[in-house]
Amino acid sequence: MKKRVVAIDGPAGSGKSTVARLVAKRLGFIYLDTGAIYRSLAWLAQRKGVSWGDEEGLARLCREMEIGFEGDRVFVNGEDVTSKIRTEEMGQGASVVSAHSKIRESLLALQRDFALKGGLVAEGRDMGTVVFPDAALKVFLVASVEERARRRWVELKERGVSPLPSLEEIGDMICQRDLQDSNRKTAPLKKAHDAVELDTTGLSIPQVVERIVGWARERIQS
Ligand code: DC
Repeated sequence: MKKRVVAIDGPAGSGKSTVARLVAKRLGFIYLDTGAIYRSLAWLAQRKGVSWGDEEGLARLCREMEIGFEGDRVFVNGEDVTSKIRTEEMGQGASVVSAHSKIRESLLALQRDFALKGGLVAEGRDMGTVVFPDAALKVFLVASVEERARRRWVELKERGVSPLPSLEEIGDMICQRDLQDSNRKTAPLKKAHDAVELDTTGLSIPQVVERIVGWARERIQS
C-alpha cells in the first residue's frame, strides 16, 4: 500500500520549497521542509562550537535538538531560527552535516513521523529514494543552473540580504552544493527510479503546482 505522501526532490534552487508548500496547501496536506532540519543542525552546531565535520559531536547534538515547525516558522530548542537558517552559509553547513551517515540515520524517524499525522508533502534530496520509498507520488524537479541562480538571487534580494552576491557567485555556490549532495556516500541527491522528472525552467510556479496537484489527485485522492 502506497503512503499518502508526495515526495519532492531536486537540487538547490529547483523550486522545491515554494512548490511543495503550495501543493500541500492545495491538497490539504502537511508540508515538511527537510532541508530546514539539516540547516537547523548546522546552525545549532555553530552556536555550540561543534565542527560541521565532527560526526560524533553532531550525533550528540541531534539527540538534544528539538525542532518545531509552526506554520512557516522553525524553532530549535524553543528559539525561532527561521531567518537564521536561511543564509547561504547555513545552506553550505547543512550540505556538510547531512553527508554524515550517522546524522542521516538519526534524523530518519523524525522525518517519517510526519507521515503518521495524515497526508504529507515532503521535500528534500532523498524523500523518494530513502525516507519515503513507498510514497504514492515522487517528483524530481530540475532546472538549469542559470535559472536556479536567478531564482536564488531574487529570493536573497527580496529578503534584503546585503551585500548581495552576484549571479555568478550564486551559480558557483549552487554547483558546489549540487556536487557535494550528489557525490556523498549516504542518500545522495538522485532521482528515484519511479519518480516523475519535471524541468521547471521556463515554467511558472502556478504551472508547476498545477501539474503536481493533478498527478497527486490521480494517484492519491481518486
Ligand atoms: O533544500 P535546502 O537548500 O534547504 O537543503 C540544504 C542542504 O541540506 C542541502 O544542500 C543538502 C541537505 N539536505 C539533504 O541532504 N537531504 C535532505 N532531505 C534535505 C536537505
